[in-house]
Amino acid sequence: MSTSPEMQQLNAAIAEGIASISVAASRDELRSTMSSLTGKKGAVAAVKSSLGSLTDVDQRKALGAAVNEALTQLQVAADQRERELRVVEFAAKVEAERVDMTEVAMSPNATRRRGRMHLVTQATERLEDVFIGLGFQIAEGPEVETDFYNFEALNMPPSHPARSMWDTLFIESDVEGSVVLRTHTSPVQIRVMQEWPPPIYAVMPGRVFRKETPDATHMPVFHQIEGLVIDRGITFADLAGTIESFTKAFFGPGFTSRLRPSYFPFTEPSAEFDIRRPDGSWIELGGCGMVHPHVLRAGGLDPEEWSGFAFGFGIDRMAKERHGVNDLRDMYSDDIRFTEQFS
Ligand code: FA5
Repeated sequence: MSTSPEMQQLNAAIAEGIASISVAASRDELRSTMSSLTGKKGAVAAVKSSLGSLTDVDQRKALGAAVNEALTQLQVAADQRERELRVVEFAAKVEAERVDMTEVAMSPNATRRRGRMHLVTQATERLEDVFIGLGFQIAEGPEVETDFYNFEALNMPPSHPARSMWDTLFIESDVEGSVVLRTHTSPVQIRVMQEWPPPIYAVMPGRVFRKETPDATHMPVFHQIEGLVIDRGITFADLAGTIESFTKAFFGPGFTSRLRPSYFPFTEPSAEFDIRRPDGSWIELGGCGMVHPHVLRAGGLDPEEWSGFAFGFGIDRMAKERHGVNDLRDMYSDDIRFTEQFS
């Protein structure tokens, strides 16, 4: 069967149409290509307008169906091209809006630079090494704590005035005030006592949170390392000896320590731990004392059988002292030029 001139015209219109759709460079260009192909002045419309002049009904039907088929084919090609252009345009948008997070470390002129561990991370690792050398094990606890572990088990019932010493950040919970960002690492003492059978020689480093205004020696988010020793016949002399050995091992032989009487609800007696720098000046680094019998009981231990000591030091302040940094805030400026000086 020979192809009518209208059919030939239509086939040519489809072939040309699909070719121009496939080279449309943007979705806007694709839209205008489609409207000229399928619009009133387009090649398909020209074929369609010849339908009226066909006298043979079958021929007219066949050409009408072919016109519809031609429009469908053009639309399918346009949809396909649209999907391709979307991918290309999205990739171009992502590239144009890309944020280069590596700008400082990887700037084109810089030679490749290695990252550095933060001073606090360095200090924590060293503290762990020193305490492992003294026979301690490492434990960790959660940063979000219940009121029970952060306060109550540590001999601070709801009415206890010592709670105000820790300006607490509370987490929204079903029972108001029952979940907190831990204000110190002491709650891990209770968790360790509940889980590990004595004797216990453990240190527990971690991040703690208080409602503080930052200054040279205070941060609202800082780090402590808790120590806990539970054994038979442990005395205050063991505590003082451990702290002195630790001071020499961590800071060097030019440093010594002293204990000053203090008060913590969870230790009795309690002391503040200071170190003396080689220049003769003193700085407070933490609190310590003999574990209070109420705390031993909260940890599931019998105070008649077991005794022990605990301490809690500020890691940030230790790092600051060890490296002669003047202001804690410098350690959190996130400037690699600062960190680079200390590794
Ligand atoms: C305590 O947090 C007690 N839990 C320590 C303790 C543990 C006592 C076990 C007895 C037995 P204190 O609030 O003093 O105590 O904090 C301990 C140390 O954390 C401080 O000596 C200091 O070195 C450090 N520290 C306290 N507040 C900040 C802060 N805002 N920024 C940086 N370091 C801080």
